Amino acid sequence: MISTCEPIKIGNINLKSPFLLAPLAGYTDKAFREMTEGWPGLMYTEMVSAKALFYKDKKSFEMLDKIEGFDEAIQLFGNEASVFYDVISNYINKTDFKLIDINLGCPAPKIVKNKMGSYLIKEPQVVGEIVRACKQATDKPITIKIRKSFEEMQSLYAIEAALENGVDAICVHGRKREDFYKNNSDYKYIKKVADMSPVCTIANGDIDSYEKALDVMEYTGCKGVLIGRSAIGNPQIFKEFARKFQGLSFDELGEKDKILQAIRHLNLACEYKGERLGVCEMRKNYPGYLKGINNNASIRNEINTKKTKAEVEKILYDLLKNFE
Ligand SMILES: Cc1cc2nc3c(=O)[nH]c(=O)nc-3n(C[C@H](O)[C@H](O)[C@H](O)COP(=O)(O)O)c2cc1C
Repeated sequence: MISTCEPIKIGNINLKSPFLLAPLAGYTDKAFREMTEGWPGLMYTEMVSAKALFYKDKKSFEMLDKIEGFDEAIQLFGNEASVFYDVISNYINKTDFKLIDINLGCPAPKIVKNKMGSYLIKEPQVVGEIVRACKQATDKPITIKIRKSFEEMQSLYAIEAALENGVDAICVHGRKREDFYKNNSDYKYIKKVADMSPVCTIANGDIDSYEKALDVMEYTGCKGVLIGRSAIGNPQIFKEFARKFQGLSFDELGEKDKILQAIRHLNLACEYKGERLGVCEMRKNYPGYLKGINNNASIRNEINTKKTKAEVEKILYDLLKNFE
């Protein structure tokens, strides 16, 4: 049985819950993270390019915007140890991010082509150098997030290199790079990593219910789980899981609550990104928030034609009237 008393610890940091928000490029921005109300044990930013920070790219610096009092982690991608060292020493150390994660899992062709993300599974030596440089640059814990394999190369070698250089935790997404997001996360492989790892291991992939989260932790021996897609349009999932884990009740959100959540998320997105971008970027979140509501596809189609916050809000508030 998973013990509800045993805290999850990464390096010198105790996490308040074993249910963590995965990094999701294009989603886990400041507004999304704020929607979780701080319930995840840890929340990862979208992946941020170490090189772009090195060259002082304004957009990348905006991604370092933290929410005060929230337990957040920054995820960096890149392939040059000296660049990681530089940006951590000069910038990340001055932030309140609890820890720094290194992306070794991104399957996107434009990342892989540049020998970053999941490509580094094939380069254990580079992984070791990056982890060593990060550890030298900071007292914050360093973690890696890695897939099962790249082409024929299993990630165990890269994981060993990271461990030899002092990595503090390992998050494993049990898919091959070639899977992208199809097939299932291989929990057997994650268990293999957890069995060999002296540091905290976190399981990832396809966690879509509280029961499944507990089953996966129990089967793999992982101390926590990273939740990605199930949180899109459902940021309250972390509150649900954390409360259930504490033996407390959780009232399922009704359709009305979910519409109110969508309105709040829209407002935060506009506040942080400006109205034009906020309205536009919110569109991909509505399928989650409006799931189960009658005619939700046509409602979303209508929302997608709107350019101002007021227009979208009017549609959502009109929808709320059905629940009065
Ligand atoms: C839209 C999208 C964006 C993602 N962005 C990142 C990212 O920036 N960094 C990363 O390590 N993984 C990223 N991932 C992978 C997720 O963190 C996670 O490993 C994957 O979705 C499996 O977990 P899930 O089944 O809970 O979604 C992304 C996945 C999706 C679907």
